[in-house]
Amino acid sequence: MATNREDQKRLAAERAISYVEEGSILGVGTGSTVAYFIDALGARRGLIEAAVSSSEQSTARLKQHGIRVVDLNSVGTLALYVDGADECDAHKRLIKGGGGALTREKIIAAASKTFVCMIDAAKRVDALGKFPLPVEVIPMARGHVAREIVRRGGNPVWRDGFVTDNGNVILDVHGWRIDDPVALEADLNQIVGVVCVGLFARRPADVVLIGDSIMS
Ligand code: 5RP
Repeated sequence: MATNREDQKRLAAERAISYVEEGSILGVGTGSTVAYFIDALGARRGLIEAAVSSSEQSTARLKQHGIRVVDLNSVGTLALYVDGADECDAHKRLIKGGGGALTREKIIAAASKTFVCMIDAAKRVDALGKFPLPVEVIPMARGHVAREIVRRGGNPVWRDGFVTDNGNVILDVHGWRIDDPVALEADLNQIVGVVCVGLFARRPADVVLIGDSIMS
């Protein structure tokens, strides 16, 4: 396998193209790995009919390649969602949201039959939590949510100056070794003011591509 992280991302993105059905409407994530994927899609002009995008950033790149972007509400369930991740455990459960697009990413993942995730080998972990867990929060609830997270043993850090595409803020939670991601995701979702948690455990990836290999 390629040793360089960027090469691994690019190879995973190339491999993800093989999951894309000709003429389909495709869910597209956000981030530097997804940028390689969008460029690979663009190089195969006309492969897809349109894309549902998880961020303004991906929308701009898709449009640069002449790929039509449509609203999720107009298309219903998608066959495939392709995205990157910040961490991935052995059960294909993920931490996402390093790029701040976690809410729209989670919505599209939930609305898709298959989620193909592309990572480089450094993101494969035994237990999630070394990467600070992003939590999208309604701005006026930032202090309240931060206190609730501290009560649960986390160390929330406000991503100062960053506003999500939904007009909200992000708390990056440090210091958690996440042994039960499904339980933590459910628990954090209950805190009033939380919009979305960057744990993709209840709906993990279906396929994880690490460079040019498939995680078994
Ligand atoms: C954005 C994400 C990205 O998928 C994640 O941050 C990985 O990004 P990259 O491909 O740049 O390493 O969740 O919200």
